[in-house]
Amino acid sequence: MTLTHPHKVSGFDLPALNPDNKLNRILTSALRARDIDDQARVNPSPIYWQADYFDLNRVSTFQAASEQEQQQILQRLNQTLLQESLLIEQAGVGYMAKMVLMAESTQERMLYSLFAADETTHLAQLYPYVPAARVPGELDDPFLQLLSEITETSDKMVLLFVLQVVLEGWGLTHYRSLAKSCTCRPLRELFQSFLQAEARHHGTGITLFNQAELSSRSKGAIMDCLAAFLQMVRVGPQRVVAAIATTKGHLSRPQRLQILQQLDTVGHSHQRLQLLKSLMATTSDDIVSHLDQQGLFTPLTAEEAACYG
Ligand SMILES: [Fe+2]
Ligand SMILES: [Fe+2]
Repeated sequence: MTLTHPHKVSGFDLPALNPDNKLNRILTSALRARDIDDQARVNPSPIYWQADYFDLNRVSTFQAASEQEQQQILQRLNQTLLQESLLIEQAGVGYMAKMVLMAESTQERMLYSLFAADETTHLAQLYPYVPAARVPGELDDPFLQLLSEITETSDKMVLLFVLQVVLEGWGLTHYRSLAKSCTCRPLRELFQSFLQAEARHHGTGITLFNQAELSSRSKGAIMDCLAAFLQMVRVGPQRVVAAIATTKGHLSRPQRLQILQQLDTVGHSHQRLQLLKSLMATTSDDIVSHLDQQGLFTPLTAEEAACYG
């Protein structure tokens, strides 16, 4: 067995083994030895987060849609949330493994090994909830694409700040809100059970980042990554618009505008941008003020947001 090409750190291009491969049995028994359940019983097309989670109760196009269309839109949005969580955990496994090798003390290496196991646990527990297996390499979500790109960098300060301080901190709030609004008890408890580990990952990022020296080169690279990420948040809840379009067909610019206004795109983005700002400010006021000067914490107006997608 020769290694033909190194896989991405995110693991997004890794193939899944055939179900009859013996390695599956070993993995299951290793997970069970740690009391990790990767076989939760899940019904085939469930809706775990309802219309109000996505603010769809305020959208007239959604309210006017048939019951069946509403279910379709919700199913799509539910699937997207679960698939995104799964892929974030998958990228987390690769990221933590990379940090094991980059560790500069025994304790740091031990911590990252434990964190890799945390993310593996989350990944295994989420699998049963994501029925449609994704084709490796096929990734059309800009956020996951960016996440995957950032994990490839060899600049540890970029990894620490962007992935651990900002994105793990963001993920923590996201999982908390997923848990709070989830209408299925086992899944709600699952997301809740992730919180403590995610908080530790985030906290470690802050600690290590503050203990190191930040070069101006790393700082520039950090700001580039964050700018790209903030742009995605500034455009508002485009996924909800896209889910409506998938069911209802093409939406005209005025229709998109109306949906975005009813979703309160400005308030939606503002809340998220402020959270990101406060996460970045835990370690660097300087980076925050630079990004602020470029207007990156200001949401797009509904009119501007309607031009996206
Ligand atoms: Fe995780
Ligand atoms: Fe994490």
